[in-house]
Amino acid sequence: MMKIVIVKAEDVGKAAFEEVKKVLCEKPDCTLGLATGSSPLPLYREMIRAYKDGLSYRNVTTYNLDEYVGLPKTHDQSYYYFMHKNLFSEIDLPEENTHIPDGTAPDMEKECARYSALLSAAKIDLQVLGIGGNGHIAFNEPGTPFTSKTHTVTLTEKTVLDNARFFDKIEDVPRTAVTMGIGEILKAKKILLIATGKNKADAVYKMIKGPVDVSCPASSLRDHPDVTVVLDEQAAAKL
Ligand code: GLP
Repeated sequence: MMKIVIVKAEDVGKAAFEEVKKVLCEKPDCTLGLATGSSPLPLYREMIRAYKDGLSYRNVTTYNLDEYVGLPKTHDQSYYYFMHKNLFSEIDLPEENTHIPDGTAPDMEKECARYSALLSAAKIDLQVLGIGGNGHIAFNEPGTPFTSKTHTVTLTEKTVLDNARFFDKIEDVPRTAVTMGIGEILKAKKILLIATGKNKADAVYKMIKGPVDVSCPASSLRDHPDVTVVLDEQAAAKL
């Protein structure tokens, strides 16, 4: 079941936080799946605001979706750095409760197996997602089987171009990443996907109205029992 919530751009954070808050209030020791990118930032700002207003994340556990391969944790574009800067350092979530795939592991195959094992032992109560301009979720690019587990991927040219804006030059954008698989994402009890801006309108349309097919990884969510999609008016423009 997919619930679609369309709000003004400035209300995306609040609308998304409503979903997270329900889970946190019901289960203060819940497990959250977290995402990077510009889409979840308004949500993270609301999560920080709620912390300042007294909400605690002390007993929460988190698992992140993905990471670039080869970027050190100190690199300002690594997802490790992103999560610490934009959320973890601002709230009382203990560092040892956070998990992010390690893109600097010497043996990435082993690292994928390690992360997969962690995920199969965990039960994610709510998974936060963005969506790529080509319909990818995490770094599961078009063509990825819906049963996939944590794996390394070669990023598509479109994803490299989309992400180039964050790097000094396009050659600096990593070409490989490690990502939670679609099969693991679909195991979350609830899913919250956030998409904003006109660059997402096509992908959002395909996710909701197109065929359920590996050409649009996000369309896999249509088979999930509890998905909330929070969109601003631009991302919803083609629905
Ligand atoms: C990256 C991430 C995805 C994210 C997507 C969209 O490729 N791996 O998890 O959803 O970009 O990012 P943004 O929200 O910045 O548009």
